Amino acid sequence: MAKDEKSRIMNEIVSLCKRRGFVFQSSEIYGGINSCWDFGPLGVELKNNIKRDWWREMVQLRDDVEGLDAAILMHPKVWEASGHISEFTDPLVECLNCHRRFRADEISGDKCPVCGSDKLTEPKMFNLMFKTFIGPVESDENVIYLRPETAQGIYVNYQNVMTTMRQKIPFGIAQIGKAFRNEISPGNFIFRSREFEQMEMQFFVHPDDAERWFEYWRQQRWNWYLSLGIDGGKIHWHQHGPDELAHYAKDAYDIEFDFPFGRKELEGVHNRGDFDLSRHKEFSGKNLEYSDNVSGEKYIPYIIETSGGVDRCALAVLVDAYTVEPEKSNPQKMRTVLKMHPRLSPIKVGVFPLVKKEGMPEIAREIAQELRKKFMVFYDEKDSIGRRYRRQDEAGTPFCVTVDGQTLQDNTVTIRERDTLIQVRTKIDEIAPMIEKYIENWERDKGIF
Ligand code: GAP
Repeated sequence: MAKDEKSRIMNEIVSLCKRRGFVFQSSEIYGGINSCWDFGPLGVELKNNIKRDWWREMVQLRDDVEGLDAAILMHPKVWEASGHISEFTDPLVECLNCHRRFRADEISGDKCPVCGSDKLTEPKMFNLMFKTFIGPVESDENVIYLRPETAQGIYVNYQNVMTTMRQKIPFGIAQIGKAFRNEISPGNFIFRSREFEQMEMQFFVHPDDAERWFEYWRQQRWNWYLSLGIDGGKIHWHQHGPDELAHYAKDAYDIEFDFPFGRKELEGVHNRGDFDLSRHKEFSGKNLEYSDNVSGEKYIPYIIETSGGVDRCALAVLVDAYTVEPEKSNPQKMRTVLKMHPRLSPIKVGVFPLVKKEGMPEIAREIAQELRKKFMVFYDEKDSIGRRYRRQDEAGTPFCVTVDGQTLQDNTVTIRERDTLIQVRTKIDEIAPMIEKYIENWERDKGIF
């Protein structure tokens, strides 16, 4: 696909996200703030559905992973121990002509990518953590950081969780939460922002078992993206070379996705060795060794980490689902539809009266209210039925229920399916079970009726 075509598609997705209430620019009425985004009514549903699905898979369905919600602000020593104060830096280069700043690795040759000037400063290391002060006194002793990853909250709680939940190695701790990075070059919409959400799981293992668990978690995480209905042809493995490995990692693979702006990281799976617990043992003075009751062996566990971004996953789902195709009834016209897994769809069902009279709105409202007990529902009586369908197609809503003249006689409605556009008639009390069955059995490119 040509570069222009790819950026056209990305622009269309950004504009759909705004138009339908997925993503707004943060503080838009003040001109916006670079690289911060607000998730609107549909965006928050999409993200919640992704997070719920991840939590179900990583915590609810397993007895060897526990959940956690640690504080964003942590003792500043945590970031010394983790290596973030000394190592979490990017080389920053400034153009002395246009004063734009870049990561050194974004510049090819010795010219500014924006104005072409060769007046570039030498790279200076720039720490990506946001700094602030705890309490009212702005002094060096009160410096504190917004966490740049959720992982550290897990390491410092490893013994708390293990003892309270009576876990033994191997076991894991999972957490979803905000992370903050003062990125030099944020961009590509919600792909790289300064405030984002991570879904991280740290699995504590015996050092001899680390490779086996690393392979196991690589497979699990790959399968999860497929289970979200993402096109398997668009995700890829990328193993980190020695010069790419983070300071803590012994081995690392990224799951990458083909975004319109290139193949980029969705999630990292890392073998972090004993780096984290050894460092926290050293800096806190606490004994973080694991003591095996059966063998009597004492050791610092190795950690296998799976670390994905909620915002990046949402973007991948949107990009993958975005479809523009000829309308069935009128192939000269195009329809825009988000063919995402219905499990992730923000709204599961749109409910419409065919016309705003003859008692149809009353019945449709009653149906909508009943369905709301189970699903996110959108009731709509404005504009023609065709336009209402189009709006729900753009929102990725898998079902639209229409109340018409026949409903008044036999309590049946039509249900239209988003991807195939097939419509069937069904009894009102069969709508909910039908939707539930469909969500469970949905497969890419296949209809249900
Ligand atoms: N604890 C390991 C860790 O944080 P990472 O590769 O730096 O590893 C993990 O980040 C994931 O967090 C990435 O794969 C990505 O999905 C997400 N992520 C990282 N930086 C991000 C940013 N600036 N904006 C959005 N998502 C980001």
